[in-house]
Amino acid sequence: MSPSTPLGAGILLAPSILSADFARLGDAVAAAERGGADLIHVDVMDGHFVPNITIGPPVVKSLKKVATVPLDVHLMITDPDKYIGPFAEAGAAMISVHVEVLPHLHRTIQAIKALGVKAGVVLNPSTPVVDISEVASDVDFVLVMSVNPGFGGQSFIPRSESKVAEVRALLDRAGNKGLVEIDGGIDMTTVGRVVKAGARMLVAGNAIFGKPDPEKAARELKAAAMAALPK
Ligand code: DX5
Ligand code: ZN
Repeated sequence: MSPSTPLGAGILLAPSILSADFARLGDAVAAAERGGADLIHVDVMDGHFVPNITIGPPVVKSLKKVATVPLDVHLMITDPDKYIGPFAEAGAAMISVHVEVLPHLHRTIQAIKALGVKAGVVLNPSTPVVDISEVASDVDFVLVMSVNPGFGGQSFIPRSESKVAEVRALLDRAGNKGLVEIDGGIDMTTVGRVVKAGARMLVAGNAIFGKPDPEKAARELKAAAMAALPK
Protein backbone atom coordinates (compact mmCIF):
# COMPACT_ATOMS: atom_id res chain seq x y z
CA MET A 1 0.00 0.00 0.00
CA SER A 2 1.53 3.30 -1.02
CA PRO A 3 1.03 6.35 1.21
CA SER A 4 -1.37 7.84 -1.33
CA THR A 5 -3.54 4.73 -1.65
CA PRO A 6 -6.91 5.37 -0.02
CA LEU A 7 -8.03 2.73 2.44
CA GLY A 8 -10.98 2.05 0.15
CA ALA A 9 -14.70 1.71 0.38
CA GLY A 10 -16.81 -1.24 1.42
CA ILE A 11 -15.68 -3.54 4.19
CA LEU A 12 -12.10 -4.28 5.17
CA LEU A 13 -11.86 -7.39 7.33
CA ALA A 14 -8.81 -7.39 9.61
CA PRO A 15 -8.39 -10.75 11.37
CA SER A 16 -6.37 -10.37 14.56
CA ILE A 17 -3.70 -13.04 14.93
CA LEU A 18 -3.80 -12.52 18.71
CA SER A 19 -6.18 -15.47 18.90
CA ALA A 20 -4.17 -17.65 16.50
CA ASP A 21 -1.60 -20.31 17.38
CA PHE A 22 1.64 -18.31 17.66
CA ALA A 23 3.66 -21.35 16.60
CA ARG A 24 1.77 -21.44 13.29
CA LEU A 25 1.26 -17.79 12.35
CA GLY A 26 2.00 -18.37 8.66
CA ASP A 27 -0.84 -20.91 8.44
CA ALA A 28 -3.17 -18.51 10.30
CA VAL A 29 -2.43 -15.68 7.87
CA ALA A 30 -2.95 -17.95 4.86
CA ALA A 31 -6.29 -19.23 6.18
CA ALA A 32 -7.48 -15.69 6.94
CA GLU A 33 -6.50 -14.55 3.46
CA ARG A 34 -8.32 -17.45 1.81
CA GLY A 35 -11.37 -16.41 3.85
CA GLY A 36 -11.23 -12.88 2.45
CA ALA A 37 -9.02 -10.96 4.91
CA ASP A 38 -8.20 -7.51 3.56
CA LEU A 39 -5.65 -6.73 6.27
CA ILE A 40 -3.89 -8.68 9.01
CA HIS A 41 -4.30 -7.01 12.40
CA VAL A 42 -1.22 -7.33 14.62
CA ASP A 43 -1.64 -6.60 18.33
CA VAL A 44 1.52 -5.32 19.98
CA MET A 45 1.40 -5.28 23.80
CA ASP A 46 4.17 -4.30 26.19
CA GLY A 47 2.93 -5.42 29.62
CA HIS A 48 2.79 -1.76 30.74
CA PHE A 49 0.04 -0.02 28.80
CA VAL A 50 -1.93 -3.26 28.87
CA PRO A 51 -1.54 -6.27 31.18
CA ASN A 52 -0.27 -8.62 28.49
CA ILE A 53 2.85 -9.04 26.36
CA THR A 54 2.81 -10.15 22.73
CA ILE A 55 5.18 -9.48 19.89
CA GLY A 56 7.68 -7.01 18.46
CA PRO A 57 9.19 -5.95 15.14
CA PRO A 58 10.97 -9.28 14.38
CA VAL A 59 7.63 -11.11 14.24
CA VAL A 60 6.13 -8.38 12.06
CA LYS A 61 9.12 -8.77 9.74
CA SER A 62 8.41 -12.50 9.41
CA LEU A 63 4.67 -11.91 8.91
CA LYS A 64 5.50 -9.44 6.14
CA LYS A 65 7.22 -12.26 4.22
CA VAL A 66 4.11 -14.45 4.21
CA ALA A 67 1.20 -11.97 4.14
CA THR A 68 -0.10 -10.80 0.77
CA VAL A 69 -2.39 -8.18 2.37
CA PRO A 70 -1.22 -5.10 4.34
CA LEU A 71 -0.24 -5.44 8.00
CA ASP A 72 -2.31 -3.28 10.37
CA VAL A 73 -0.18 -2.86 13.49
CA HIS A 74 -1.99 -1.80 16.68
CA LEU A 75 0.48 -0.50 19.26
CA MET A 76 -0.74 -1.00 22.82
CA ILE A 77 2.48 0.27 24.37
CA THR A 78 3.43 3.18 26.61
CA ASP A 79 6.09 4.63 24.29
CA PRO A 80 4.92 4.30 20.69
CA ASP A 81 7.16 7.15 19.46
CA LYS A 82 10.18 4.98 20.16
CA TYR A 83 8.90 2.05 18.10
CA ILE A 84 7.09 3.42 15.04
CA GLY A 85 10.39 3.42 13.09
CA PRO A 86 11.19 -0.26 13.80
CA PHE A 87 7.61 -1.37 13.04
CA ALA A 88 7.55 0.60 9.78
CA GLU A 89 10.91 -0.90 8.85
CA ALA A 90 9.55 -4.37 9.67
CA GLY A 91 6.76 -3.93 7.12
CA ALA A 92 3.73 -2.32 8.81
CA ALA A 93 1.46 -0.66 6.23
CA MET A 94 -0.70 0.89 8.95
CA ILE A 95 0.23 1.84 12.50
CA SER A 96 -2.28 2.90 15.13
CA VAL A 97 -1.37 4.56 18.42
CA HIS A 98 -3.38 5.14 21.58
CA VAL A 99 -4.26 8.78 22.32
CA GLU A 100 -4.09 8.02 26.07
CA VAL A 101 -0.27 7.86 26.04
CA LEU A 102 0.51 10.65 23.59
CA PRO A 103 0.70 14.31 24.71
CA HIS A 104 2.01 15.25 21.26
CA LEU A 105 -0.41 13.25 19.15
CA HIS A 106 -0.16 15.56 16.13
CA ARG A 107 3.59 15.09 16.01
CA THR A 108 3.31 11.31 16.28
CA ILE A 109 0.78 11.16 13.43
CA GLN A 110 3.09 13.19 11.21
CA ALA A 111 6.02 10.95 12.15
CA ILE A 112 4.10 7.82 11.12
CA LYS A 113 3.05 9.38 7.81
CA ALA A 114 6.61 10.52 7.12
CA LEU A 115 7.60 6.84 7.14
CA GLY A 116 5.11 6.14 4.34
CA VAL A 117 2.74 4.34 6.72
CA LYS A 118 -1.00 5.00 7.24
CA ALA A 119 -1.50 6.68 10.63
CA GLY A 120 -4.35 5.72 12.92
CA VAL A 121 -5.36 6.86 16.38
CA VAL A 122 -7.03 4.58 18.92
CA LEU A 123 -9.58 5.41 21.60
CA ASN A 124 -10.01 3.21 24.66
CA PRO A 125 -13.62 2.63 25.77
CA SER A 126 -13.30 5.34 28.45
CA THR A 127 -11.65 7.92 26.18
CA PRO A 128 -13.99 10.57 24.73
CA VAL A 129 -14.12 11.29 21.01
CA VAL A 130 -13.33 14.96 21.68
CA ASP A 131 -9.74 13.92 22.44
CA ILE A 132 -9.09 13.48 18.71
CA SER A 133 -11.05 16.50 17.47
CA GLU A 134 -7.92 18.57 16.77
CA VAL A 135 -6.34 15.83 14.64
CA ALA A 136 -9.50 14.82 12.78
CA SER A 137 -8.19 16.06 9.46
CA ASP A 138 -4.71 14.59 9.98
CA VAL A 139 -5.43 10.92 10.65
CA ASP A 140 -5.75 8.23 7.98
CA PHE A 141 -8.10 6.19 10.18
CA VAL A 142 -9.53 6.00 13.69
CA LEU A 143 -9.73 2.80 15.73
CA VAL A 144 -12.52 2.57 18.30
CA MET A 145 -11.81 -0.01 21.01
CA SER A 146 -14.98 -1.89 21.83
CA VAL A 147 -13.29 -3.80 24.69
CA ASN A 148 -10.60 -2.72 27.13
CA PRO A 149 -7.39 -3.64 25.29
CA GLY A 150 -5.15 -6.47 26.41
CA PHE A 151 -6.89 -9.72 25.60
CA GLY A 152 -8.87 -11.43 22.88
CA GLY A 153 -12.24 -13.03 23.41
CA GLN A 154 -13.86 -10.29 25.54
CA SER A 155 -17.45 -9.10 25.23
CA PHE A 156 -18.37 -6.14 23.04
CA ILE A 157 -19.14 -2.95 25.01
CA PRO A 158 -22.50 -1.75 23.59
CA ARG A 159 -21.72 1.98 24.01
CA SER A 160 -19.07 1.56 21.27
CA GLU A 161 -21.79 1.50 18.66
CA SER A 162 -22.76 5.16 19.13
CA LYS A 163 -19.10 6.05 19.54
CA VAL A 164 -18.39 4.74 16.05
CA ALA A 165 -21.13 7.00 14.71
CA GLU A 166 -19.70 9.95 16.65
CA VAL A 167 -16.21 9.37 15.22
CA ARG A 168 -17.63 9.01 11.70
CA ALA A 169 -19.45 12.33 12.11
CA LEU A 170 -16.27 14.00 13.39
CA LEU A 171 -14.26 12.78 10.37
CA ASP A 172 -17.03 13.83 7.99
CA ARG A 173 -17.11 17.33 9.48
CA ALA A 174 -13.35 17.52 8.95
CA GLY A 175 -13.77 16.41 5.32
CA ASN A 176 -11.74 13.28 6.11
CA LYS A 177 -12.71 10.16 4.17
CA GLY A 178 -10.53 7.98 6.40
CA LEU A 179 -12.23 4.88 7.75
CA VAL A 180 -13.45 4.01 11.23
CA GLU A 181 -12.03 0.72 12.51
CA ILE A 182 -13.50 -1.24 15.39
CA ASP A 183 -11.70 -3.76 17.58
CA GLY A 184 -13.02 -6.06 20.27
CA GLY A 185 -15.89 -8.51 20.53
CA ILE A 186 -16.76 -8.38 16.85
CA ASP A 187 -18.63 -11.53 15.87
CA MET A 188 -21.74 -12.60 13.99
CA THR A 189 -24.00 -10.98 16.59
CA THR A 190 -22.28 -7.57 16.75
CA VAL A 191 -20.88 -7.10 13.23
CA GLY A 192 -24.09 -5.82 11.61
CA ARG A 193 -24.64 -3.21 14.30
CA VAL A 194 -21.16 -1.71 14.02
CA VAL A 195 -21.30 -1.61 10.23
CA LYS A 196 -24.65 0.19 10.42
CA ALA A 197 -23.05 2.66 12.86
CA GLY A 198 -20.34 3.43 10.30
CA ALA A 199 -17.43 1.06 10.97
CA ARG A 200 -15.74 -0.17 7.80
CA MET A 201 -12.54 -1.81 9.08
CA LEU A 202 -13.45 -4.72 11.29
CA VAL A 203 -10.97 -6.45 13.59
CA ALA A 204 -11.90 -9.94 14.74
CA GLY A 205 -9.73 -12.39 16.64
CA ASN A 206 -11.70 -14.95 18.59
CA ALA A 207 -14.58 -15.00 16.09
CA ILE A 208 -12.10 -16.19 13.43
CA PHE A 209 -9.17 -17.99 15.06
CA GLY A 210 -11.24 -19.33 17.94
CA LYS A 211 -13.23 -21.35 15.40
CA PRO A 212 -12.27 -24.80 14.07
CA ASP A 213 -12.30 -23.43 10.48
CA PRO A 214 -10.90 -19.86 10.49
CA GLU A 215 -11.18 -19.55 6.72
CA LYS A 216 -14.91 -20.27 6.81
CA ALA A 217 -15.41 -18.05 9.88
CA ALA A 218 -13.69 -15.12 8.13
CA ARG A 219 -15.77 -15.61 5.00
CA GLU A 220 -19.03 -15.72 6.95
CA LEU A 221 -18.16 -12.70 9.09
CA LYS A 222 -17.25 -10.63 6.05
CA ALA A 223 -20.45 -11.66 4.27
CA ALA A 224 -22.50 -10.63 7.32
CA ALA A 225 -20.67 -7.28 7.38
CA MET A 226 -21.28 -6.67 3.68
CA ALA A 227 -24.96 -7.52 4.10
CA ALA A 228 -25.26 -4.76 6.71
CA LEU A 229 -23.85 -2.06 4.41
CA PRO A 230 -26.36 0.62 3.41
CA LYS A 231 -27.87 -0.24 0.02
C1 DX5 B 1 -7.52 -6.45 22.19
C2 DX5 B 1 -6.92 -6.42 20.81
C3 DX5 B 1 -7.80 -6.98 19.77
C4 DX5 B 1 -8.19 -8.41 19.98
C5 DX5 B 1 -9.60 -8.57 19.53
O1 DX5 B 1 -6.66 -5.84 23.07
O2 DX5 B 1 -6.61 -5.10 20.42
O3 DX5 B 1 -7.31 -6.78 18.47
O4 DX5 B 1 -7.39 -9.33 19.29
O5 DX5 B 1 -9.99 -9.84 19.85
P1 DX5 B 1 -11.49 -10.32 19.80
O6 DX5 B 1 -11.97 -10.16 18.38
O7 DX5 B 1 -11.36 -11.74 20.22
O8 DX5 B 1 -12.27 -9.47 20.76
ZN1 ZN C 1 -6.14 -4.73 18.21
